[in-house]
Amino acid sequence: MLKQVLAGIGAGALLFGLTACGGGDDSGDGGGSGDGLVVGFAQVGAESAWRTANSESVQAAAEADDRIAELKFVDAQQDQEKQIEAVRNFITQQVDVIVLAPVVETGWTDVLQEAADAGIPVVLADRGVEAADEDLYVTRLGSDFAEEGRKAGAWAVETFAEDPDGTTRILELQGTTGSAPANDRKAGFFEVLDAEGLPYELVDSQSGNFTAEEGKAVMETFITTHGLDGIDLLYAHNDEMGLGAIQAIEEAGYQPGTDIQIIIVDGSKAGFQAGVDGKLNYIVECNPVFGEQLMDVVVQVANGEEVEKFTPVEEGVFDASQFEAELPNRKF
Ligand code: AHR
Repeated sequence: MLKQVLAGIGAGALLFGLTACGGGDDSGDGGGSGDGLVVGFAQVGAESAWRTANSESVQAAAEADDRIAELKFVDAQQDQEKQIEAVRNFITQQVDVIVLAPVVETGWTDVLQEAADAGIPVVLADRGVEAADEDLYVTRLGSDFAEEGRKAGAWAVETFAEDPDGTTRILELQGTTGSAPANDRKAGFFEVLDAEGLPYELVDSQSGNFTAEEGKAVMETFITTHGLDGIDLLYAHNDEMGLGAIQAIEEAGYQPGTDIQIIIVDGSKAGFQAGVDGKLNYIVECNPVFGEQLMDVVVQVANGEEVEKFTPVEEGVFDASQFEAELPNRKF
């Protein structure tokens, strides 16, 4: 079987990529050759180790799976317009199934309707879209981001319940504005703090767009604006922003993990190493390695089988006592 996994096609090269590298046949009509499925995957970007691991997992699973003839892969560089363009090109190519990891939650109605009108099922991977568009995709496979936020919140409550100062002063580094993980990790975290009655002050909260550079820059601004004395906790919505912030904290002459407690979400090798080095205190896992599970879902959807509307991937939590033992197990 001819298998082509098109890795790393930037959205600018998308049209060329699809026409030049084509589907399982040369007719340009994409799917339905009978040799396996042609799947289009509009990925968010390459903003984090998590994302790279996710792309690799999906591409490797497609490559190894005889039920998949071709995976057309587009890296949309965290740009919704590029993702929409990618989906439209998949529709033109008449792929069998479209997989979309939506960079933000809103603004998908038109293109999802176009896919529905063309009779192409859409599977959401990783991130979700707003509830109003729920009928326009078949299923979502990914993390329960609100639950991740709740796990972070539960640790904060446990850690600071006996805070002698009375009020826990918090800085928050949010993910990409309008993205499902940023919205839900924030909501889940503060839901638990409020429900448990932890006295806290959210000193500042800004987006670091899930990248180390922006996370560091925002943390520098936090330090300039508020100082770090009297700040108890940094809640970073992913590893990269947390690691960037750690650099900023060190450069300002403070000890991350000691002078300020830090929670990150993801659990990359670099994140765990920072934990082993005593620079952060709690890791909420977000698992990107679901490529094989995704291929099963894609095949089920293509076959018209009934699937759950949402399938969460399994994820854990890790405190300082577990970092060293867990580090060798990390896959990304
Ligand atoms: O959508 C999952 C999030 O996206 C991960 O937590 C983050 O690292 C990535 O950029």
